[in-house]
Amino acid sequence: MSLFSKMPRRNKGNLSNVSKPQLSPRPFLEQESLTTLQGRPTQTITMTDGDYDYLIKLLALGDSGVGKTTFLYRYTDNKFNPKFITTVGIDFREKRVVYNTQGPNGSTGKAFKVHLQLWDTAGQERFRSLTTAFFRDAMGFLLMFDLTSQQSFLNVRNWMSQLQANAYCENPDIVLIGNKADLPDQREVNERQARDLADKYSIPYFETSAATGQNVEKAVETLLDLIMKRMEQCVEKTQVPDTVNGGSSGKLDGDKPAEKKCAC
Ligand code: GTP
Ligand code: MG
Repeated sequence: MSLFSKMPRRNKGNLSNVSKPQLSPRPFLEQESLTTLQGRPTQTITMTDGDYDYLIKLLALGDSGVGKTTFLYRYTDNKFNPKFITTVGIDFREKRVVYNTQGPNGSTGKAFKVHLQLWDTAGQERFRSLTTAFFRDAMGFLLMFDLTSQQSFLNVRNWMSQLQANAYCENPDIVLIGNKADLPDQREVNERQARDLADKYSIPYFETSAATGQNVEKAVETLLDLIMKRMEQCVEKTQVPDTVNGGSSGKLDGDKPAEKKCAC
């Protein structure tokens, strides 16, 4: 199945009753604000349905209560919800960003419009078989624990095993997130511990707060960057014969959506 495709836009929705990722088309009438990858709303572009270069599917996972839903709400709407309403099954949010590739000598390369689909999974054990079925279709993972809960940190290892067993490959793009950094008095996991674990898995680590917004955009941007770079490598690999014969440069090309293959 293609992990890299264009799909019709749909608003936030709850898909607790479906067993496979499934989106049905919905007319898109609104204008949408586009933010840059750095999160600064530097430009507003009018877009119609399908007016984007890439659809990227990210998935948030981790124990119940670590703040997945709240984190994604902060990222898409820049708001904080202090209420705990546990997620039932699976849910998703969407956001569009501009991804700038790097040109030669650190200059800015091409700008791509990216439609981010952010899948929000239930952390509760009873939904496990449903949520892990969604891992296969995600291109990157926000693996989250709660800095005020040692148990949620210990469970990161289990989530990693689940990922390795169910994601598109054994070495998918992941960012480790220690959330609730705004609660230092209740902290149970120190930064060194968490960084050591992230280093062990060779993945980036961020301490975030959905309450203040600290590092929320940075964590998502880092994951998107990993995904785009991996895709670029795949395109380069698949285009080697072309390049040898004087074909294209092998850089990401928004006109020709590429299939994301595992480069591990
Ligand atoms: P499940 O849906 O059950 O898997 O939980 P979840 O991981 O989605 O947790 P949720 O986002 O619902 O957050 C749980 C509680 O933690 C809520 O009351 C949030 O307001 C709170 N919370 C989430 N992130 C933060 C944060 O960064 N700081 C603080 N202080 N509270 C947070
Ligand atoms: Mg939730």
